Amino acid sequence: MTYHFPIIRPRRLRNTPTLRRMVRETTLRTDDFIYPLFIQHGVGVRDEISSMPGQFRLSVDQLEQEIKEIDKLNIPAVLLFGIPAEKDPIGLENFADGGIVQQAIREIKRIAPELLVITDVCLCEYTDHGHCGILDDHGYALNDQTLAILQKVSVSHAEAGADIIAPSGMMDGMIQAIRASLDEAGFERLPIMSYAVKYASAFYGPFRDAADGAPKFGDRRTHQMDPANVQEAMREAALDVQEGADFLMVKPALAYLDVIQRVKSAHPELPLVAYNVSGEYSMLKAAAANGWLDEKGSVLEKLLSIKRAGADVIITYHAKDAARWLME
Ligand code: PBG
Repeated sequence: MTYHFPIIRPRRLRNTPTLRRMVRETTLRTDDFIYPLFIQHGVGVRDEISSMPGQFRLSVDQLEQEIKEIDKLNIPAVLLFGIPAEKDPIGLENFADGGIVQQAIREIKRIAPELLVITDVCLCEYTDHGHCGILDDHGYALNDQTLAILQKVSVSHAEAGADIIAPSGMMDGMIQAIRASLDEAGFERLPIMSYAVKYASAFYGPFRDAADGAPKFGDRRTHQMDPANVQEAMREAALDVQEGADFLMVKPALAYLDVIQRVKSAHPELPLVAYNVSGEYSMLKAAAANGWLDEKGSVLEKLLSIKRAGADVIITYHAKDAARWLME
C-alpha cells in the first residue's frame, strides 16, 4: 500500500461519538456474561472472600436475594462452585443428592427458573488432598478412575436440574465419558461446556482461597497445561470437539488472548468461552482500591478485549458491575 497522506486520514472516522459508535467492531453485552458463585453449608452465611473483594461465599438461604439481583440485571447464567461439609479421598459429597451444589441448583431453579445454572465438575474442592482426581500411591491423578467419578457428579448435577455441565479437571476423555453417562441417564439434551484449554496458572490463587481447593501437596502440572504451549491447546480443543463438547473454553483469559484467538479461528462453529479468572479479577480490584486504576474503565476495556480476541461468552466476577455499567 502506498502512503496517501494527506488524502487518507483514519482520524475522520473518530470524529464524533455517533460516528465512533457506528464503526465500532466489537460490542460487550450483558448477554455475554456468566457469573460464578461459591456456595457453602450453613445458614445466614455471606462471607466476603478476603482475596476477592466484592465476592462472597453464600449459604443456600442467601441465594434468594443474590439470584434475584443477578436475574434483574439480565445476566443469563451463573456458574456454581461448592464447598463441601467434609472432604475425603474421592469427594463423596460431589455426587450426593443432598450435596451443597445439588441443593443450590434446586433453590436457584425455584427462584429464577429461566436463569441458566452451569455447574463446575471437578474433584479438587471435594477431596481432602485437594487434587482434581483420585490419586495413586505416588500422588498421580489416575485418569480413567477419575472419569468414573466425573460421570457420577455430572449425572447428579443433571438430576438436580443443572442446565449445562462444565467439567474443569483436564482429564483425558472427560467429555466423551460425561456425554455417554448423561445420555444413558436420559440427559441427551444437556449441553457440555468443556474447560478444553486450561493452563496450570498462578492466576487461580485467589480462587483456591475462595473454594478451599488448593492442593495439599504438589501441583496440577500433570493435567493442566503448560503456559508455554499453544499447539497443544489446538490439540486439546480439537479432541473435545470430536468428543462432543458443545462449548469450548480457554482459561485464564487475559494472559492468553492469543490462545483465544487461535482456538476461535480453528473452531468458529462452537461458542468459545473465556474464563476471566480470580487472579485477573483481584489484581484489578487491588489497583482500583489503591486509586491506581479507574475500575469501570479498566474492567470494561479488559472484557471488551477478551471478546475482541474471539470469545463469545465470558465467565467473570465483574459480571454484576459490568452489567450495571452497560445499562448506564
Ligand atoms: C477447578 C477450578 C479452578 C478454577 C475453576 N475451576 C481452580 C484450579 O483449577 O486450580 C479457577 C477459577 C478462578 O481462578 O477464578 N475446579
